[in-house]
Order: sequence, then structure tokens, then C-alpha cells
Amino acid sequence: MKILGVETSCDETAAAVVEDGSRIISDVVASQIDIHARYGGIVPEIASRQHLLTIIPVISQAMTEVSWQDINGIAVTFGPGLAGSLLVGVNVAKAIALAKKLPITGVNHLEAHIYANWLDSSPAGEKGRVKFPCLCLVVSGGHSDLVLMKGHGQFEKLGQTLDDAAGEAFDKAARLLGLGYPGGPAIEQAARSGIPCLPLPRAWLKESHDFSFSGLKTALWHLVHKGGISVADAAASFQLAIVDVLVAKTIEAAKQLEVKQILLSGGVAANKILTQHFLANSPVPVLIPPPHLCTDNAAMVAACGYYHFQAGKISGYDLDVVPSLGLG
Ligand SMILES: Nc1ncnc2c1ncn2[C@@H]1O[C@H](COP(=O)(O)OP(=O)(O)OP(=O)(O)O)[C@@H](O)[C@H]1O
Ligand SMILES: [Mg+2]
Repeated sequence: MKILGVETSCDETAAAVVEDGSRIISDVVASQIDIHARYGGIVPEIASRQHLLTIIPVISQAMTEVSWQDINGIAVTFGPGLAGSLLVGVNVAKAIALAKKLPITGVNHLEAHIYANWLDSSPAGEKGRVKFPCLCLVVSGGHSDLVLMKGHGQFEKLGQTLDDAAGEAFDKAARLLGLGYPGGPAIEQAARSGIPCLPLPRAWLKESHDFSFSGLKTALWHLVHKGGISVADAAASFQLAIVDVLVAKTIEAAKQLEVKQILLSGGVAANKILTQHFLANSPVPVLIPPPHLCTDNAAMVAACGYYHFQAGKISGYDLDVVPSLGLG
């Protein structure tokens, strides 16, 4: 079964064709990073206009290897994300579904991030290697969710960030340190020549599965404004403070819930220090998609959509965007 995935929830216009929820036939991502970088963050109005310009060329490119007759369904992200950006993907996907007489399914962007673990270039790509129940940590630009997954489409949210998401914290810290946008890769790069020697706080929040990163950001602000610190040391210290909390709290939850595996996903899962610490400390196997499948893409949307179609979850032509859609 070949599914065309469409993703426009934020600042990436993406389309992909995936067979049987795992084999990537095409995977096209047009990033708007260069356009938004000069503003230090995403400008929603510019993002939606840019999606309008790129969506058709991106879908055409994803379809160069495949004929429309071979496509069995369309999966499109309908939330969460920026309303204007989501509308472009959802409406173009509905128009194609109508014109080509194909079934369409609306996909939750956060579930899609988790399904990046099923793609063939991910460790769990060979079918059946994900073992339920598993614990999913979705760490992206807008979310830091800890989710128990008991089976396909069965998600139970255990915790979330009370303030900044992990990726958002990286982006804000990078701005504070003058390292540019997006912040995660910039901090990871700067941290390579630094030592994590600066005293920065970790919010453990007792037994709760929630996260909080705004106190850490404020502590970094105070250090920077006091002066005399090296940017590389600050980047390394900030990165380790986030990694320590994400790793310790996720592993603690994994032990409590006796899950069989931990699945990482979202842009922050591209961070090498995070993945090294997980692999070194977890008592259960940790699955991590390759970096290009951690950040936004449409292959993960198509993979998730495949399992929707398997379960008979088909959307109507009244499918609408849900910008604040949650998980579980
Ligand atoms: N190597 C890295 N280390 C840390 N953070 C990273 C790294 N690479 C990317 N990120 C962060 O990941 C985020 C982007 O991830 P992603 O594309 O999954 O988020 P999003 O789609 O904007 O948000 P959401 O999925 O919550 O809607 C950015 O905040 C970026 O700084
Ligand atoms: Mg995302």
C-alpha cells in the first residue's frame, strides 16, 4: 500500500511516498529556515505564503518516481501547528484526493513524529521491531511530551512541558548566546568546543512526568548578563542541563511503567549528546530515527497514515485544521 504524505504544519513544506508504512520511495522537504532566520524565529504569515508557493512543486517532485494509479491514499497533517500553514496542506491534500478519487486521512503531527521510528532508515524500520508497550519522548520545537504507546493509535500522555518546549529552549538560549536560528544545531555545534562546567539548574518536578525549562533559560540569561563566560562552555552546560532532565525522567518513567522500549522523536532527538546519554543509561532498547527524520518531514506522516488506513480511519472532505491538537 503506497501512501502520499503531506506536511505543512510549521516552516517545512514536505511531501513523501511511503510503502506499507516503512519503505520510503520519495521524501522531499523544502525548508523555510533561511527565510525565517533573519527574524530569529518563524513568522506565521510568511510561512503560510511560502507553503502556497512550494506545495505543488514539492508534491510533484515526490511523485516523480511513482504514478498516481499506484497511490492508495493520502495522509495529511491537520494539527497541531500554525493555522495558516496547516490550511495549505489540508486543502491541497483534499483537492488532490477529490480529483484522484483517493481516500484521505488527517494525521496528528505529534503521532507522525513518533511514527518516524517505523521508517526503514530508522532502527525499527524492519517491521515488527517496535515492541508495545513503549514509552515515547516527543521533543520538538513546540512540544516535550512523554507518551505511553500501548499499540498502533493508542496513546496516553503522561507528561508535557509546563512552559518552554525543549526545542524552544534551545532556540531561545541560542539567541541569548548570539548563535543564530535554529538554536538546537547551533548549540550542539558550539558545545563541541566547550566544557559543561557552569552551574545551571535542573527542574526535576518531583514524581511528576512533566518538564519545565524556563527556569534554566532565566539562569542562563543571568550568567550571560554577569559576563565573563565562554559561549562554548555556556552552550555545553545548557545542553547538558536539558539532556540530564530528559534522560533521567524518561528512564525513570520507563522503569515504573515496565515498558519494552523507549522511542525518541522530534527535532531535539537529532541531538547527539541526548542520544548518547539515552543509549548509555537506558535499561531497555532506545530507538532513534536518523536526524533528517527527527525534524519535520512527510515520510513520518505517510507512515502514520498507513496505520490509520489499516485501522479504517478515513477522514471526510470536511477535514479541518486543529492548530492546538494534542496527543493522547
Ligand atoms: N541537534 C539538535 N539539538 C537540539 N535541538 C535540535 C537539534 N536539531 C533540531 N533541534 C530543535 O528541534 C526543533 C525543530 O524540531 P521539529 O521540526 O520537530 O519541531 P516543530 O515541528 O517546529 O515543532 P512541533 O513538532 O512541536 O510542532 C527546533 O527547536 C530545533 O532547535
Ligand atoms: Mg515537528
